[in-house]
Amino acid sequence: MSGQKEFNKIEHEKDYDSLKQQIKTLEGKLHKYIEMEKHFYDIQKNAATALRESDNRFKKIIEDVSEISIQGYNEDREVIFWNQASEKIYGYTAKEAVGRKLEDIIIPEAMKDTVKYLHHRWVDHGEKIPSGELTLVNKAGENVHVFSSHVMQKTPFGKEMFCIDIDLKPVKEAEEEKRQLREQIIQSQKMEAVGTLTSGIAHDFNNILQVIGGFTDYLILKQSEKSHGADSNISEKQGDIFGKLDHTSGKNRTISGNLEKNDNEKYDLPSSDNDSGNLFELHKIRKATDRGIALIRQLMLFSRKTIPAKTSVKINHEIEHVIKLIKMTIPRMVNIETNLSDKLLDVAIDPTHLEQILLNLCINAADAMPEGGNIFIETSNATLNNVPSMEPDVPPLSGPCVFISISDTGHGMDKETVQKIFEPFFTTKPIGKGTGLGLASVYGIVKNYKGIIQCFSEVNRGTTFKIFFPAIANTREKQIHQSEEIPLHGNKDNRTILLVDDEESIRDFVSNTLKLFNYRFIGVSSGEDALKVYEKKQHMIDLVILDISMPGMGGYRCLKELLMEWPKCRVIISSGYSEENVIEKCIKIGALSYLSKPYTITDLLNAIRKALEK
Ligand SMILES: Nc1ncnc2c1ncn2[C@@H]1O[C@H](COP(=O)(O)OP(=O)(O)O)[C@@H](O)[C@H]1O
Ligand SMILES: [Mg+2]
Repeated sequence: MSGQKEFNKIEHEKDYDSLKQQIKTLEGKLHKYIEMEKHFYDIQKNAATALRESDNRFKKIIEDVSEISIQGYNEDREVIFWNQASEKIYGYTAKEAVGRKLEDIIIPEAMKDTVKYLHHRWVDHGEKIPSGELTLVNKAGENVHVFSSHVMQKTPFGKEMFCIDIDLKPVKEAEEEKRQLREQIIQSQKMEAVGTLTSGIAHDFNNILQVIGGFTDYLILKQSEKSHGADSNISEKQGDIFGKLDHTSGKNRTISGNLEKNDNEKYDLPSSDNDSGNLFELHKIRKATDRGIALIRQLMLFSRKTIPAKTSVKINHEIEHVIKLIKMTIPRMVNIETNLSDKLLDVAIDPTHLEQILLNLCINAADAMPEGGNIFIETSNATLNNVPSMEPDVPPLSGPCVFISISDTGHGMDKETVQKIFEPFFTTKPIGKGTGLGLASVYGIVKNYKGIIQCFSEVNRGTTFKIFFPAIANTREKQIHQSEEIPLHGNKDNRTILLVDDEESIRDFVSNTLKLFNYRFIGVSSGEDALKVYEKKQHMIDLVILDISMPGMGGYRCLKELLMEWPKCRVIISSGYSEENVIEKCIKIGALSYLSKPYTITDLLNAIRKALEK
């Protein structure tokens, strides 16, 4: 039995060892398991942290993203999420919005039923709401244009809808700005084309009016001469003559004349046999001619071919002066008020141009208020920042400027009318009342001075014109002299004038006039002839009156060659219509002065006297 015992003992010991071994193995496994568990736990923990972080990150992005409004709604369309951009676009803070129904905050009345229906179709039937442009409302009740997209998601708490709205305001504004810019370019190109057309018309009409007006004046003078008797002395004659001509100011009148090819010996003055009874009719013709001239002057202002003055003016001073004038012409029921800034910068502008602008605008304003109302004139300094110029191909304007605003409380205009007001001959006034040239000339003047004019109008409420003129550094106010009238007196020493003009009738007129005032006259029709004649008769020619726009070499080249060859030659240039820079160029190279057509007898004689005195 002991053998059995021994065996049992051995078996037992074996079991024990195996048990020990098993326990050891289990311990190893357990340890491994624990290690693994620990590892998995770490992974899980890290994943959760990462998820939380990512969640926070996205939440923050969604929360902070500017310009893109993101709102969340539950199945009952109540706000559950409202980012900062939503607050910016719709005006409600998250606190104000959360819990309220979509249709009660940003959906306009007319869209409420549609929104509820679409939301219901989506939640219950899965029909997605299409993305698109919407006009919603903000807290202040103003329209808000957005591009809206929608996302629906299922969560343990039910279905949630997210609306992602992009504010279209900046896009719309940029589009509007682009549209306006395009319109401005088209407008300025159109005006430029009309300007070219009118310049041609003005040129021809100036010559025609110069002839009609000139001969009319001439006939009036002749009659005067007759009534005074042939032996009256020339100064007396002139004093009386200019009375007869009824020139209120030589400046605003035109006279035309014409000249001849050779010298004055060849001229026969028009017969004045039948003149005794014609003075009345002649004055009528003169008046009608003056009206024509006034129209052409405005047209010329529109097409910019006037020489802009380089003199600075005090705008307020001019406004006050013009208001006095206007008050005399407009009905009493129209009241004028002003608010003029006292530290106004100076502007380089011809005061008569400024007067023209103000008169036109105020008279239009008064016309728009037949039952009375208010005109309000305001001035201040301003700064232009890249404002498109009124001329094509001219860069945008920037820098200090003077701002003038003229408003009225009149009947206003609709958009279509406003678009046409600056076109020459556009008028809504009855025939005889409006010419349609007022605003065209205002436009031309403003453009000429590199300024800007804008019109804002509302039917039945009124109109505002805003004008900006580039400012110049403040200067001490310069006295601006209207061109002084030189007392006319006879030309005792028979000076000789060479007139160069391709218009025969103008040569005739000037010839006749000069003869009447004891000048000797030579007329030629081209620059080429002028050079030839001057070369031959330089010793006797005291002054050349040279037209700028002529066929052939033209006035400018002729002037250049005359002065190059005979630097002492005295030349006045004259033109009915010239590019301003040509006139400036002529003056620069030595022309004594510029006589603008149509000119009056007074203008002509004054210009000659001044030039001969130089
Ligand atoms: N202040 C204003 N209020 C309303 N309409 C205006 C005003 N100014 C100008 N208009 C409109 O612009 C048109 C053109 O004006 P304008 O060029 O001065 O010509 P006119 O005065 O001869 O008609 C006018 O006929 C009128 O219809
Ligand atoms: Mg007008």
